[in-house]
Amino acid sequence: MDNLQNFRRTDYCGTLRQEDIGRTISVCGWVQRRRDLGGLLFIDLRDRTGLLQLAFDDSTPRPLFEKAEGLRGEYVIAATGTVRERESKNPDLPTGFVEIQVTELRLLAKAETPPFEIVENSDVKDAVRLKYRYLDLRRPDMQRTLALRHKIVKICRDYFDEQGFLEIETPILTKSTPEGARDYLVPSRVHPGKFYALPQSPQQYKQLLMLSGFDRYFQIARCFRDEDLRADRQPEFTQIDLEMSFLDEEQIQTIQEGFLKRVFREVLDVEVQTPFQRMPWREAMDRFGSDKPDLRFGFELKDISDIVKHCGFGVFSGAIEAGGTVRLINLDGHAADFPRKKIDKLGDFVKTYQAKGLAWARMLDGKVTSSYQKFLTDEENAAILERAGAKDGDLVLIVGDAKEEVVFAALGALRVECAKQLGLLDPKDFRFLWVTQFPMFEWSEEEGRYQAMHHPFTAPMAEDEDKLLTDKKNCRARAYDIVLNGTELGGGSIRINTPELQTKAFEALGLAQEDIQERFGHLVNAFQYGAPPHGGLAYGLDRLVMLMTGATSIRDVIAFPKVQNASDLMMDCPDVVDDKQLDDLSIAVTRQEGSEE
Ligand code: AMO
Repeated sequence: MDNLQNFRRTDYCGTLRQEDIGRTISVCGWVQRRRDLGGLLFIDLRDRTGLLQLAFDDSTPRPLFEKAEGLRGEYVIAATGTVRERESKNPDLPTGFVEIQVTELRLLAKAETPPFEIVENSDVKDAVRLKYRYLDLRRPDMQRTLALRHKIVKICRDYFDEQGFLEIETPILTKSTPEGARDYLVPSRVHPGKFYALPQSPQQYKQLLMLSGFDRYFQIARCFRDEDLRADRQPEFTQIDLEMSFLDEEQIQTIQEGFLKRVFREVLDVEVQTPFQRMPWREAMDRFGSDKPDLRFGFELKDISDIVKHCGFGVFSGAIEAGGTVRLINLDGHAADFPRKKIDKLGDFVKTYQAKGLAWARMLDGKVTSSYQKFLTDEENAAILERAGAKDGDLVLIVGDAKEEVVFAALGALRVECAKQLGLLDPKDFRFLWVTQFPMFEWSEEEGRYQAMHHPFTAPMAEDEDKLLTDKKNCRARAYDIVLNGTELGGGSIRINTPELQTKAFEALGLAQEDIQERFGHLVNAFQYGAPPHGGLAYGLDRLVMLMTGATSIRDVIAFPKVQNASDLMMDCPDVVDDKQLDDLSIAVTRQEGSEE
């Protein structure tokens, strides 16, 4: 095997162009492909910048030619030679007009045949890709994505530095933080029976940094949440985490708009309009059935509860009697795209959101057909279509339920599903939105009590402060989310900064005095020493990269992600550990994966 002694790389493969013709250059990389045409031999050499053709012909010294003949896919080599014009050009390749006439070749490492071909967009199964992630990452699309991710982080550091933010690290071994997911725990050897928790976010630390006077903080922060994975969730993920003192929500949001504008301009060459639209949470729910509305298309919700309150159709009137609501969306102009069979499928779709069914009215060729009209009076039928703004060619879809949340969830998701089926979701159209005035609390069926919708450090709106203990349902928070094309990109709030109000907020969540001291004593006590008014937010960096690259899975924007069941297929973890290690930690395992319970 050769080595790199006295070899100096002069160029990356993908960078060579016609202007370089005549230069003597040296490159390194992996063999993508070898083509042997008798007296002529070509190697496509790959590095992270792209491909370059190396040529060996009858002017090549015999030993060198034979050495090239011995090369196989994924061998690692270094080559020196002269750049010359290619005889048969490849306009699809940036380097397709030139090739290197090789004068020196070094073989640096051999390679087994990889389990899959290293090419763009290959349809290899995810499990295989992730087991051999180090090979999967050689693919040009993965290389591009991680380079883009780097660029976003670099712009983030530059921008927030220019805005006076300090990057400060916070602990990974810490105490349980209430962001709503289960904690990952780390046993302590020194304190038998005690555990650290990995941070779900640096929330409390960053607030304490404001109290310490740092004024503006940011961190590219790793967060850990033991929750069910989805296409845009990982158990460990990265936040761009920010906190600021002496600013209100408007000022905080303006700084963020500057950041997003710059990232989109410098990374994608896309100009986004600022300021972004702002919409109170209630309006978002009423109009889009979602607290993260996709604004790339219409199909807004309309409330028809008043029209059908006393109608003869039990599904509608019953829902309202039980305290619920009946709402519709109008797929205007798309009746012809949804024949009966497709509407039935939409009915199945809303059932996955706990809706009991989907009522519909179709207006096509001057005729109205509908699943419910025979149960309603002519006036009621006409009033519904009028409320929907329906005209010929439209399809009206209706969901009623005793629970408002079910109607919102079903119609909110249906709206997006129909837009997807109709091809209305242009990934290059970026619609930002601030959703504001979230409720402070949300009712948890599972726990049978109110929980903080954002987190318990969020300040209530001044005019709702007196509702904290008495009217939780209607108490609104100074919380905001930044939403892009139906995805929650980030969330934050103005925080509570007095011990009295913080204690009251904990009480509202049902925490007793001793719980407050035990779990949050550090924060409440700290607030007694003068906390500035402060607020902040955190972006999901992985989600930002997903939206900017058009990736459909969060795994495609993370170098070494976990799969659905939270394991790492390449490292094969989580894994069992030695009894000795467990002993040191005073831990006994009572149940093991795969064993009988
Ligand atoms: P929140 O919990 O809303 O707020 O998280 C902020 C953003 O982080 C991203 N995110 C995730 N990304 C990938 N996988 C996950 N499991 C995951 N969970 C969340 C989302 C989300 O909008 N401390 C507060 C922020 C603050 O108030 O300043 C917090 O963590 O994009």
